Amino acid sequence: MISLAKSRIMHAMDSQYLATLVDDRLAQGVFRVHPDVYASSELFDAEQKHVFERTWIFLGLESQIAKPNDYLVTWIGRLPVLVTHAADGVRRAFFNVCRHKGTVLCRLESGNTRFHVCGYHGWAYDAAGRAVDIKDQPSGGYTEAFTRDNHDLVPLGAFASYKGLMFGSVSAQVPPLETFLGEMRFFLDLAMEQGAQGMEFVPGRIGFTYNGNWKAQLDNSSDAYHLTSTHLSFMEVQRRRADSVSGNQAARQFDWKKRFEQEGGAYTFLNGHNVIWLNQSEDTKRPVYPQIDEVRARVGDLKAEWMLRLRNLTVFPSMQIADSTSLLIRTFRPVAVDRTEMRYYCLAPIGEAAEVRQWRLRQFEDFFNVSGFATPDDTAMYEDMAVGLKAAQIGYVQGYARGIGVQTAGPDALARAAGVMPISSASGMFDLQAETWGHALYREWARLMQSGVAGEPAWPQAAGAAQ
Ligand code: FES
Ligand SMILES: [Fe+2]
Repeated sequence: MISLAKSRIMHAMDSQYLATLVDDRLAQGVFRVHPDVYASSELFDAEQKHVFERTWIFLGLESQIAKPNDYLVTWIGRLPVLVTHAADGVRRAFFNVCRHKGTVLCRLESGNTRFHVCGYHGWAYDAAGRAVDIKDQPSGGYTEAFTRDNHDLVPLGAFASYKGLMFGSVSAQVPPLETFLGEMRFFLDLAMEQGAQGMEFVPGRIGFTYNGNWKAQLDNSSDAYHLTSTHLSFMEVQRRRADSVSGNQAARQFDWKKRFEQEGGAYTFLNGHNVIWLNQSEDTKRPVYPQIDEVRARVGDLKAEWMLRLRNLTVFPSMQIADSTSLLIRTFRPVAVDRTEMRYYCLAPIGEAAEVRQWRLRQFEDFFNVSGFATPDDTAMYEDMAVGLKAAQIGYVQGYARGIGVQTAGPDALARAAGVMPISSASGMFDLQAETWGHALYREWARLMQSGVAGEPAWPQAAGAAQ
């Protein structure tokens, strides 16, 4: 092991140093992460290349580009991405970059247009990515070589959808999307099958940046342990609403006292994904509740029962679904080692009844809005972490230890009954609040970083997934 004091001055490309960053010794009851993982600019640059550009990244919902010529603009790490629905009905994903001089092509976040025209010199592309007009080409004195050259938008290495969720990869050397998602498909189904006509984002979204590392958010969605401290005011307000001490019933969700009587747990999966869950006492104000009979008839008892559990999931590295207070899809992107851009969307069944949609929105605002009970408190913690983690002298952070003593390899009874095969399961009463979910995240981060630095493929088995 290289000493911690020495580590910060070593180059991030050193594979020996990389091997020290995630102290993964579960057999001895230890799983710790080095502060450099969150605070080193060199590691940040390396993870853009070795993590974000070598695996599947969530881009958006198919329903966001439902009609021909609809498009949306997003990012993979630092790279701009344009996703289109062309006149031929096919959805495609490209680098959102003009072939002439590399300007960002489409500056709006979403819309509908037959042609994307570059703001610099006016080259135009159709929704299938073809360069349909090189402005003033006949008078331009171009050579044959230019005419023969390809000027079309450059597609991502891979693009695919699962249950209306679109993912893209910069690298073509990735496994098929369904293989990458693996057992997580069951948990994605639980979100995406709630609507008989499919799912959509409620118009509008939340966007903000915080001054901290992206892995603070990567962690937080699975972190049940912070609820009873960071979100104490939210829990107290909910208790007052449940007891009718508060007259605000519009965003009332559940009685937090009952949480402590419930069982919950954490699962880790291959490829860095994780899920935490909590049994749900009857909560008639949860948006799925009034529809549960229709949902049950359509998806079966097993999935319907799971939809009634609270669930937070992370698809590594940058997509999360929280089905707890309202139904959230969150994406985040690293902008700098200490700056992260967040997007929160409220997910809802297409054609949902107006009254239920209203509950969903009020609950979403109450917890997830930038002015809500959760987001500002969480974000303050991420920013405090960014300050604290500059002190590499503290040694490894110890935040992945809760639950190691009770976790089991493979599925627990609940997972086995669902036909789901996690790498590990940890379950108990609500206040177990296991942190074992972190093992999946940081093992995958370390795997991608180490193989990238060594010049090895991220997915040795992948034949490549064609666009
Ligand atoms: S950079 Fe796009 S047309 Fe010149
Ligand atoms: Fe939180």
